[in-house]
Amino acid sequence: MTLRQRIGARLRPLAYWRTLSEMRSELSQLQRDVNALHALAPAYLGNPLGPQLGGWSVAPSALVDMLAVVERHLGTARVLEIGGGMSTRALTTIMAAERSPITSITTVEHDPSFVDALAGLGGEVVHRPLGELEPGRVWFQLTADDLPQPPYDCLIIDGPLTSESDRSCAVDVLESAVSEACVVLVDDTHIADHGGMVERLEREWRLERTVVRPTYEVLTR
Ligand SMILES: C[S@@+](CC[C@H](N)C(=O)[O-])C[C@H]1O[C@@H](n2cnc3c(N)ncnc32)[C@H](O)[C@@H]1O
Repeated sequence: MTLRQRIGARLRPLAYWRTLSEMRSELSQLQRDVNALHALAPAYLGNPLGPQLGGWSVAPSALVDMLAVVERHLGTARVLEIGGGMSTRALTTIMAAERSPITSITTVEHDPSFVDALAGLGGEVVHRPLGELEPGRVWFQLTADDLPQPPYDCLIIDGPLTSESDRSCAVDVLESAVSEACVVLVDDTHIADHGGMVERLEREWRLERTVVRPTYEVLTR
C-alpha cells in the first residue's frame, strides 16, 4: 500500500462522518419543510398551487419561520420581495387567506419573461433590468424611491440569481424603504455569503439573527 493509499484509508471514516452529518442536516431541513407545508395547508384549501420543496424556490419552512417572526413582532406586514417565482405564488396565496399576516406584496423582478406571470398573481410587480450599482457590483437598476408603497415591514432577499449579481446591494439601496421594526429573510446563505450580507445587516441596519438555518436566516430588531 502506498503512502497516499494509507493516508486515504485513514481519512475515509472522516469522509463518511461528514456525509452522515450533511445527511442529518438535510433530513432536519426536510422535516422542517414538511411541518411547514402542514402549517401552511389552511391557506391553500381550494388552491393547489402551494409552495414547492427544493428547486429554485424559498423553502416552505423559510416562509413559515419568517411569518412566525412577523406575527410575533409585528402582527401584519407589507412585504417587499427581491426576486420573484414560486415564493410570490405562495405569498399571494397566503395573503388571500382569512386573517392573513400579509397585507400587501411588492416583488422586484428583472427577467421580463417572469414579470407578466408574477403580475397576474395579485401582488404588485416592479420590473427593473440589471445594471452595475458600482463597478463589479451587478444588481437591479433600482432606488428606494422607485418602490410604490414604502415603508415595507418585511423584506425577502432572494434575487437576482447569485451567479449574476451581488445580492448585498440590497443592504446599500433598501434601508430607507423598510420600516424601523422590519423582518428580513435572507435566502441561499449556503450558496454564497453575498458580500457578508448577514453581517452587514447586523452592523449597518442593527438587526439581530433571530432564526438561523443551514440555507436561510431571518433577522429582525
Ligand atoms: C432564486 S430565484 C427567486 C425565486 C423566488 N423567490 C422563489 O422562491 O421562487 C432568482 C431569480 O430566478 C428567476 N427564477 C424564478 N423562478 C425560476 C425558475 N423556476 N426557474 C428559473 N429561474 C427562475 C427569477 O428571475 C428570479 O428573480
